[in-house]
Amino acid sequence: MPSKPPSAPAAPPADPATDWDHELSVFGPDPHPPAAEPSGGALASARAALGRLATWVPIRSLARRHRHRIIDHLLALEDRDRYLRFGYPASDEQIRKYALSIDFARDEVLGIFSRRLQLVAMAHLAYGQPVPGDPNRTMAEFGVSVLPQSRGRGLGRRLFDAAALHARNRGIDTLFIHALSENRPMLRIATAAGAIVERDGGESAAWLRLPPETFGSQVEQALERHLSELDFQFKRQAQVLSGFVDSVAEVKAHFDASGRAAKE
Ligand SMILES: CC(C)(COP(=O)(O)OP(=O)(O)OC[C@H]1O[C@@H](n2cnc3c(N)ncnc32)[C@H](O)[C@@H]1OP(=O)(O)O)[C@@H](O)C(=O)NCCC(=O)NCCS
Repeated sequence: MPSKPPSAPAAPPADPATDWDHELSVFGPDPHPPAAEPSGGALASARAALGRLATWVPIRSLARRHRHRIIDHLLALEDRDRYLRFGYPASDEQIRKYALSIDFARDEVLGIFSRRLQLVAMAHLAYGQPVPGDPNRTMAEFGVSVLPQSRGRGLGRRLFDAAALHARNRGIDTLFIHALSENRPMLRIATAAGAIVERDGGESAAWLRLPPETFGSQVEQALERHLSELDFQFKRQAQVLSGFVDSVAEVKAHFDASGRAAKE
């Protein structure tokens, strides 16, 4: 939800020697501690990797050419969802204006496509925002929407995790989410990730401190990008093939009908 962010929670004094774990401890316990090495060696690791793959959801970085899909996605949101997403019941015109104003050179838009290539979930990461009261810190604002029929399957949470990874890999240290206090799913996603939520009446601001990028976080993002691209191309080919099969069936039906008519 775009907004003017309130003051960020006070940051610990900048000290290069500060231990990162200690710095993060200010924000409470890590909700996603590093997984313990599974016992059982390579086989167990492979099983764990397969388990992760079984629940993998392809998340794609969107570009300018996807603007029409973004507009279609947002226009499909009902009034209440538009209110939760933007902080006001955005009209169709305001939605088009918002989508056309997304700066793809600066920001990132992440999307999840259905098998029919409908954009069922998308997140906008707006970069370049100053952290109020602390010019040394860098922040990105997160906004998300999932189509009603695709909710409750963890897509919102996955987009949040992917956004945190992307922001982290860009050297951003804080993710900011502005949500209405009544927006329980959004605040649940943020708090489960370890964000600090500050409620101010009907509005809430959530702040998530991100750990610095690592070689592993870069590899994770690169892998995700390649696999998601493959998935998208596969779905596109499947759609082309399905269209071709439908046309063949149509032509066959047409000839069958003409053959029957000729016999009669
Ligand atoms: C917020 C939104 C993106 C969540 O998407 P989603 O894909 O349904 O979310 P998830 O399936 O990942 O669920 C997120 C968490 O919210 C919880 N949740 C879902 N509905 C809830 C409710 N009514 N009350 C409390 N928690 C709820 C889920 O149980 C889940 O928590 P868990 O993983 O601990 O079980 C979606 O509801 C939406 O698009 N809303 C309209 C736009 C909006 O509000 N955007 C956010 C403002 S920027």
